[in-house]
Amino acid sequence: MADEKAQNGGTTINADTIASILRGKLDAMTAAIDTQDVSRVVEIGDGVARVSGLRSAMAGELLDFTSALTGEHVFGLAQNLDEDEVGAVLFGNVEAIREGDECRTTGRVMDIPVGPAMLGRVVNPLGEAIDGLGPMETVARRPVEFKAPGIMARTPVCEPVQTGLMAIDAMIPVGRGQRELIIGDRKTGKTSIAVDTIINQADSDMVCIYVAIGQKASTVATIRQTLESHGVLDKTIIVAATASDSAPLQYIAPMAGAAIGEYFMYNGADGKPANEDNPGRAVLVVYDDLSKQAVAYRQMSLTLHRPPGREAYPGDIFYLHSRLLERACKLDAAHGSGSLTALPIIETQEGDVSAYIPTNVISITDGQIYLQSNLFLQGQRPAVDVGISVSRVGGGAQIKAMKQVAGNLRLDLASYAELQSFSQFGSDLDRSTQAQLNRGAHMTELLRQKRFAALDVADQVAVIFAGNNNFLDDIPLDEVLAFRDGFVDYMKSSRVALRQKICEGRISDETAEELKGACRTFKKQFVAGRKAARRGADREQLEEDAIESAGVATTLEGSAASVAEED
Ligand SMILES: Nc1ncnc2c1ncn2[C@@H]1O[C@H](COP(=O)(O)OP(=O)(O)O)[C@@H](O)[C@H]1O
Ligand SMILES: [Mg+2]
Repeated sequence: MADEKAQNGGTTINADTIASILRGKLDAMTAAIDTQDVSRVVEIGDGVARVSGLRSAMAGELLDFTSALTGEHVFGLAQNLDEDEVGAVLFGNVEAIREGDECRTTGRVMDIPVGPAMLGRVVNPLGEAIDGLGPMETVARRPVEFKAPGIMARTPVCEPVQTGLMAIDAMIPVGRGQRELIIGDRKTGKTSIAVDTIINQADSDMVCIYVAIGQKASTVATIRQTLESHGVLDKTIIVAATASDSAPLQYIAPMAGAAIGEYFMYNGADGKPANEDNPGRAVLVVYDDLSKQAVAYRQMSLTLHRPPGREAYPGDIFYLHSRLLERACKLDAAHGSGSLTALPIIETQEGDVSAYIPTNVISITDGQIYLQSNLFLQGQRPAVDVGISVSRVGGGAQIKAMKQVAGNLRLDLASYAELQSFSQFGSDLDRSTQAQLNRGAHMTELLRQKRFAALDVADQVAVIFAGNNNFLDDIPLDEVLAFRDGFVDYMKSSRVALRQKICEGRISDETAEELKGACRTFKKQFVAGRKAARRGADREQLEEDAIESAGVATTLEGSAASVAEED
């Protein structure tokens, strides 16, 4: 009663009421202390600055540098926190910052603009357009480094990312939310596989992000053009830190790509956080390539005077790559069912996968696609070594029909590889070995695909089915590809319903019979067509030979005449 009076401006006031009122005021007060710490640049070079003091700086904090010369602001990232100095990497116009310039902490982590406006554009790792098509209306910002979602927010990989390449979709399937490494020497078709995969998303709902690290600007321009001419540029974002960009920019590029992808995964179409009613998108991110990023990080770290570890890389490079790749995931329904699929690329030297960075990234990813330069040079393209390539989780994402036929394919190819090595020594092989070798050779041939010649999953199933059911064995090896492509055309034009059935579930006995019927009909056509073509070719050849021999006769006569004239 007395308290009430006091609060209502009554007459009774005692020490307790005053204390309680004061305490209430104190509780309500928010501490608005300016935590900015200001200091000066001691040393700068190679995009790396050392700043004295800055005791309150946090690792990874965004630092704001002001150029005394031009007054412009350049941002940096606090990397090394020493006792009386902070080492930072700078982004943007590094040249503007000189020794003695001011540097202040911001209390923020580095973030970049993101949003649907970036689709179809080429941006740098700071989220700025670099394709000369004007500014973008981005709607949000996201931190470059972001904590990967925990176990409870994830679900197992369950939907496929179709690459359109039979060697991959059948045997090393990639699922949405998976991390699948593409590894091989230079010029083995790594980039091609990634770009073909993006092109194959033309009719899917995926958003694609291609992160180019340390490549030539002209290469990036070519890739952009390729994507545009195949009609997928408007669902793709290219993040480029080219070879001429600074090491810090190349270092941050994959994280920037992940941050842009996360915007689509974590948000619905309206830009609000995704949930059950507001689904997030499926995103595919290609990091091309992480070897170059590792080299950039090594350069940066050495300039920061960090102790070099194995192969002179800094000790935390494993952590860097695992943090990055852990951000790939498939979210559960409560979080909008979005996904981020990562296709990191690693370039090896002379096929050495036991070097430091390759082993690291191999152990972080859910599977590896090994590309071999000897296969590539033999013309077996895509040069996927199916014997050692794996996908540890993607099987769950394959369509049922593919799962059914792909098991046999794997077995055929494995026994082929095994037999091939010892059949070189023996000349007379028994019939079953010969049959296995023949099957393996045909199936290997079947996996060859040119660039930009993706096969739909239904067609892949149909041709593998034809192989499994002995329809290919007596086709000459050099006609296998013609058979495959002809069969695909036939299925598309004459067997639409059957093709649809393949996509819908397991191949029932009834469907299998129907498929065999289709194989038989097509094969008859094919063999007859080939025979006719061969006969035609033979006739042409005969005619040509006749003309040629007649020609030889006349020239002989001619030369005889000229010799006579000379005499
Ligand atoms: N399946 C294929 N068929 C024919 N040529 C291919 C195929 N895959 C790649 N190539 C060609 O091989 C070359 C090297 O490919 P690229 O993807 O750039 O290799 P990497 O990224 O491993 O250095 C390119 O000229 C590309 O067109
Ligand atoms: Mg490449």
